[in-house]
Amino acid sequence: MRKKIVAGNWKMNPNYDEAIDLLNFLKDNIPTDHSGVDIIICPPFIYLIEAKKILNRQDIYVGAQNVSSFTNGAYTGEISAAMLKSININYTIIGHSERRQYFGEKEENFSKKIKLCLQEHITPIYCVGETLEQRNNGEQLKVVEKQISEALYNLSDDEIAKIIIAYEPVWAIGTGVNATPDQAQQMHVFIRELIAKKYNQTISQGIIILYGGSVKASNAKELFSMPDIDGGLIGGASLKGKEFTSIINIAMNI
Ligand code: PGA
Repeated sequence: MRKKIVAGNWKMNPNYDEAIDLLNFLKDNIPTDHSGVDIIICPPFIYLIEAKKILNRQDIYVGAQNVSSFTNGAYTGEISAAMLKSININYTIIGHSERRQYFGEKEENFSKKIKLCLQEHITPIYCVGETLEQRNNGEQLKVVEKQISEALYNLSDDEIAKIIIAYEPVWAIGTGVNATPDQAQQMHVFIRELIAKKYNQTISQGIIILYGGSVKASNAKELFSMPDIDGGLIGGASLKGKEFTSIINIAMNI
């Protein structure tokens, strides 16, 4: 039985004081008894240490939103996997569509980032998903297959089993229009089939696949109830303490 995960991706928000308020709210309001649901908060890099200090409860993980594809050295502005590990960060998002869209990142970078994270025992949350144009052209499966094969297929059985995948259709991110539970379920099954074909059935059934794209308290139940959706990667709604804790409560009660 796969566990559920509710992860918050704060993106480039908010400023320092608001971040501290939100972290304190989460510390005080995330229910302590959420067995079966892992919680991961991914604030901007500069708040990571503070987040670790404030969320000093064992049951809330802190993750990064990105990581360098280089090991260390003269790479101005970059943060390495080893640096994240040195402050006890256990997760990082990799391959978010905003990294693809605005920073020109490609599967080749993601594959390097994933390897470096695994070496440091950091769990990558690898994001995939098609644009609206690609979906309208009926290319969504082909697009996601390419994103998965080029970034993940060089991993060993042991390594792939440690990855979390997030299906985030680009047209659903920040738009208020979520994929329907059926659309998301279909893609999650397709991703599981890819993993089963390349690796094996046991790995495919064990791998955690999150859905992301306009998840809110009002749609979380129907999405998280689908058999192959193991929780959510939440953007906008993770910045609102009450809304985010409601989503956690929903995941706990499925
Ligand atoms: P959203 O973002 O929940 O604001 O749509 C999700 C994400 O980009 O991870």
